[in-house]
Amino acid sequence: MTRAHAPGKAILFGEHAVVFGRPAIAVPVHQVRATAEVSDLPKAPAGAVFIESDATGTRAWLTDLPEDDPLRRVTQSTLERFPAADRPAFSIHVTSTIPIASGLGSGAAVSVAIARAVSQHLGQPLTTETVSALAFDVERLHHGTPSGIDNTVISYESPAYFVRGQPIERIKVGVPFDLLIGDTGIPAPTAKAVASVRRRWEADRETVDRLFDSIGDIVGRARTAIESGHVTALGSFMNENQTLLAEMGVSSPELDRLIDAALGAGASGAKLSGGGMGGNMIAVVTPDRAQAIAVALLEAGATRAFATQVGP
Ligand code: PMV
Repeated sequence: MTRAHAPGKAILFGEHAVVFGRPAIAVPVHQVRATAEVSDLPKAPAGAVFIESDATGTRAWLTDLPEDDPLRRVTQSTLERFPAADRPAFSIHVTSTIPIASGLGSGAAVSVAIARAVSQHLGQPLTTETVSALAFDVERLHHGTPSGIDNTVISYESPAYFVRGQPIERIKVGVPFDLLIGDTGIPAPTAKAVASVRRRWEADRETVDRLFDSIGDIVGRARTAIESGHVTALGSFMNENQTLLAEMGVSSPELDRLIDAALGAGASGAKLSGGGMGGNMIAVVTPDRAQAIAVALLEAGATRAFATQVGP
């Protein structure tokens, strides 16, 4: 049996604007992860693949799934890189602790875990670059115009400064800092949020481009702060970024409630993370306040709150 994992991710700054060419910063979140296990099926005909995913309730032979099924797509594009002859039959079992449609990159993490486990099982692990490219291809099924930030950060497992279409720039974290992640429990498909931002942009490009530019500016300042270890500045950058995201229409009453609760309990800054309209929020916290802020998030309706540290 071959097993591979992929972490979740959180976008610290720059979501949505990144779809329109501005930079963003994201970090891997190792407290949650997707796992794929590949096992031989000696009794099945050569080349057959059975796939099982607890998260989506899938239990099917690969070729019985719709062609645009994400599990089928990533498995097939991985297999295309191996000679079809003498390929053993195998099963793939996917499990994930990353909530679906919550802004933590569950779709990309599942793709990365499958591409890694299958290629390792067949004796030739794919490079990180290829794994990321395969996951990007699947992200396109989730929403038409992905920036590529999810698959990149999740494959490289490194804090990253990201500009669409450009190679990943890893960020050196000057001084580690702590985040709390709070889940509204409301699933929010990224496609919906991305489409709504595009509609606003099409209706009033000048205004929305200005919002994107302001976000890009925050991302630049945040990168400098992270690299130079000036982490006390990050909270106010998050608050600024959240104000702009709210103006863009991608916050929600539930997100606002969790953000207010985190700030009220002493977080230095907080914002939605990912597509928004539900899903998760993040807060920069100091270790002495983390526990109290986590409690405040749960009291304000978070279905889950957990801490993660952004480190080198
Ligand atoms: O909701 P998530 O985790 O898939 O993040 C989406 C981030 C966006 O900037 C809104 C879209 C994208 O493709 O970058």
